[in-house]
Amino acid sequence: MTTGPSVRAALLRFPQRSWTAARCGRCHHLQEQTMTSSRTARTTESVRAAESVRTVAPAHTVRAVRTADPVRTADPGDTGDRVSTIDTVRRHPERHRVLTGDRPTGPLHLGHYFGTLQNRVRLQDLGVELFLVVADYQVLTDRDRADRPADYAEDLVLDYLAAGIDPQRATVFTHSAVPALNQLMLPFLSLVSVAELGRNPTVKDEIAHAGRATVSGLMFTYPVHQAADILFCKADLVPVGQDQLPHLETARTVARRFNERYGQVFPEPAPLLSASPLLLGTDGGKMSKSRGNAIPLGADEDRTARLVRSATTDADRHITYDPQHRPGVAGLLQLAALCQDRTPEEVADEIGSGGAAALKRLVTEAVNEYFRPVRRRRSELARDRGHLRKILAAGNEHANAVADTTLREVRTAMGTVTAAA
Ligand code: TRP
Repeated sequence: MTTGPSVRAALLRFPQRSWTAARCGRCHHLQEQTMTSSRTARTTESVRAAESVRTVAPAHTVRAVRTADPVRTADPGDTGDRVSTIDTVRRHPERHRVLTGDRPTGPLHLGHYFGTLQNRVRLQDLGVELFLVVADYQVLTDRDRADRPADYAEDLVLDYLAAGIDPQRATVFTHSAVPALNQLMLPFLSLVSVAELGRNPTVKDEIAHAGRATVSGLMFTYPVHQAADILFCKADLVPVGQDQLPHLETARTVARRFNERYGQVFPEPAPLLSASPLLLGTDGGKMSKSRGNAIPLGADEDRTARLVRSATTDADRHITYDPQHRPGVAGLLQLAALCQDRTPEEVADEIGSGGAAALKRLVTEAVNEYFRPVRRRRSELARDRGHLRKILAAGNEHANAVADTTLREVRTAMGTVTAAA
């Protein structure tokens, strides 16, 4: 596995959509990522998160990375890190290890699918080693108790497998089943300051939205725990959304400071940003379970039709793609476009003056058609919960072996291992 410069500035291109992981050539601050089509659709939270990325970056790093231009992200003449393309990954998939994950709080929806699941499967199919964490401890950041954590963990496995994750090749595990991962949290906490933790914009935003009287220690420190998720398996690439970039920066800081203090143990992981537009929900806002505007991956065809029919549109019968002024219509166009691998404008042209009803019929058909195999697989797998539990057990066993090895290395580097141990 490499930890060298090529990883710091990776740009991956996939057949339809691409991810970028871009890093300034002169320093290691994150660059701003340009996603034109999602710009207008951003929620306040993600705008704030994006702005925070901009504010941590010195002016010279704020360069747009155009995903449409897959090969050159660095400025001409930039002598810094080399950009690696998907070809680099393709040539040496065994040099990369990817970790990402989700909180088990309910079924995944189409926003998750187009935002990240699809790309995880592409990476897996390229032969990159994949670790997926079911972040059950992280659920406790904004609530007192996790609701049915084991059931939801199995549901996540179900959604992963339905989307194409292969448990023979990918390791799916839960936080809480891997003690050595959690122990890394202690030395890692010693590497960050309270002030740094307090500046994390995503955490600030979550605190503001949690509507709770107090902020728990876990809420304040979970980015460090997330660094343990990433570093226990020495992942070098982390596919995440914009809002997770501050956490990635924490993981990089932890890795760098650990290495400086105790000797080289960890790679500095680079983010892989999804270049798919932020998927809009049925109300024209960001698709999210908590907003009640999501179409679940596992929804059947009738439920999909009902959800699409309930989407907010407008009275103008002439359908145009205008995310700023017609977010509801734009969201539907985008969804159909993703399912049919064409542009939202093309879909709009096809509908012409057919009005919202015609648009909704087209979207329902496009979604149902595209997801038919995924949903068929999902309902077959759902019949055997024991199988899902076995997959998790095997993933947990493998994750434990990896975490034990890393913890031993960490303790040796720190000098806490006695000769007899
Ligand atoms: N914080 C992520 C989310 O809410 C989930 C997560 C937990 C994660 N640990 C991670 C993502 C490590 C990437 C890497 O979606």
